[in-house]
Amino acid sequence: MVKSLQTIFLLLILSFGTLSYSLPLSTSKKWIIDSASGHRVKLTCVNWAAHLEPMVAEGLDRKPLRDIVAKVAEHHFNCVRLTWATFMFTRYAQRTVTESLDSLGLREAKDGIAKSNPVILNMTLIQAYETVVDELGAQGLMVVLDNHVSNPNWCCPYNDGNGFFGDADFHPREWLHGLITVGKRFKTKNQVVAMSIRNELRGSRQNEHDWYRYIGRGARMVHKANPDVLVIVSGLTWGTDLSFLRQKSLGLDLNNKLVYETHWYSFSGDQQIWEVQPLNRVCAKSTQSLINNSGFLTSGRNPVPLFLSEFGFDQRGQNRADNRFSSCFMAYAAEKDLDWGLWALQGSYYLREGHTRAEETFGILDINWDHLRNPKFLKRLRFMQRMIQDPNSNLSTSYILYHPESGNCVGANGKNKIYTSNSRRWSRWSHDGDGAPIRLMGSALCLKVAGDGLPPVLSSDCLSQQSAWKSVSNSKLHLAAKDQHGEYLCLDKISAKSSKILTRKCICIDDDSDCLENPQSQWFKFISTNVK
Ligand SMILES: *[C@@H]1O[C@H](CO)[C@@H](O)[C@H](O)[C@H]1NC(C)=O
Ligand SMILES: *[C@@H]1O[C@H](CO)[C@@H](O)[C@H](O)[C@H]1NC(C)=O
Ligand SMILES: *[C@@H]1O[C@H](CO)[C@@H](O)[C@H](O)[C@H]1NC(C)=O
Repeated sequence: MVKSLQTIFLLLILSFGTLSYSLPLSTSKKWIIDSASGHRVKLTCVNWAAHLEPMVAEGLDRKPLRDIVAKVAEHHFNCVRLTWATFMFTRYAQRTVTESLDSLGLREAKDGIAKSNPVILNMTLIQAYETVVDELGAQGLMVVLDNHVSNPNWCCPYNDGNGFFGDADFHPREWLHGLITVGKRFKTKNQVVAMSIRNELRGSRQNEHDWYRYIGRGARMVHKANPDVLVIVSGLTWGTDLSFLRQKSLGLDLNNKLVYETHWYSFSGDQQIWEVQPLNRVCAKSTQSLINNSGFLTSGRNPVPLFLSEFGFDQRGQNRADNRFSSCFMAYAAEKDLDWGLWALQGSYYLREGHTRAEETFGILDINWDHLRNPKFLKRLRFMQRMIQDPNSNLSTSYILYHPESGNCVGANGKNKIYTSNSRRWSRWSHDGDGAPIRLMGSALCLKVAGDGLPPVLSSDCLSQQSAWKSVSNSKLHLAAKDQHGEYLCLDKISAKSSKILTRKCICIDDDSDCLENPQSQWFKFISTNVK
């Protein structure tokens, strides 16, 4: 009885969750909003690939569609960026799933689908894709349809014929035809909230002139085919460079439906910098480069939303560059409260780059789609899944003190002890900039250095040097105050196992090229919030 009541209660919460916004979506300055109420909707998506050679959403050979979709919702994503290949709609519109798998000799995948999702085998590829979209909608998830490639395949080598308008497989007219077909076909499905019109433009042909010409045309045509969807546009150089918009805007009026997107990985731009240079410098440079290339779009006179539609990390946790990049990434994305899409859901591919049953180490699910590859990572991501800034809130702004390496935030308990926590039990702080105290809101208390290796204390002494906090490194992610001897000590979350924070000797804050220690335990970020 108790159990079933709990279940009903849970269901109520879940269904309330799915109904807490209505569709379609629009934009208002840098936010995506629900058109009807004007409330902000934050897209927290996971990418799900359906654009590789078989043109079938991955994993349907492993688990029933319904179970896969349930996992997405269970882990607090509210949306899926579902990829598609142009040719599926223009050249292979009549092809069935069985025919597609047979033509590639994918017997094992076919047997798996026959077992887990028999109904899709006889469907056309498009019907199967639509079935996935329907199930996502049925479970309350929003969908972004992403035109990932023209010729179905793994994306995105520099010169693979799919990189830019005019490449061997990338015919502008066929691309437009595909966009219009998809726009019209999914018009009646209100879970389809957005279409991104092309993924990761790149290659030797890329140029701004053609970008304005074709992207403008594509965006207008999608808007005409389906005036309700958000139209998502990406830049040059693997979709990361929109810097040219500073000089010349796209000049489109899509009735508040235009959103830009970018991607950010440890391997974006300079390779390997995350391993061989001081981390504070690398993080500062990499963040500034993102701001220069696309982040600037969310500020200034005509701000627009920026959807960080791909970022991701090796989920096995063994890639040093990824582990370092991830904290830097989260500090920025959380501070700006960006909409985002994690790469990726899939733990495996039917066929990738010639390998059957290829593993996706960036996938949150394991190769058999049974378990989370890294449950801790999803816990860590939890903070970023929350809405942190609400444009309609009338609450005053305060700060959350966020520790990206753990995904935890700093709180003070009833006994005024400082801890970090992954749940919502964080405290609100105020801080008026470098040299000012960090005050616990609603109290007369401030954070104060007690000494090297000791936890900071909450004290009514807000004026001494031990209470004057300042960001002291290039990355601006170190928070330090002086001890009684005048030495700076930095906040430090010493271990993943303990909720404690201490103040300790600051790591590599002087931008010394020889200082390659990992300072991430000392990275904290003030995140401004006006949400309860
Ligand atoms: C698919 O079609 C084939 C041939 O028409 C038929 O034998 C088979 O039973 C169908 N399978 C399903 C799952 O509908
Ligand atoms: C960002 O742009 C500014 C102004 O143009 C420039 O000075 C700076 O070097 C750029 N930084 C990076 C990392 O690209
Ligand atoms: C803030 O908004 C809520 C509901 O939107 C309203 O009930 C409340 O009176 C508002 N408070 C202030 C201080 O405006």
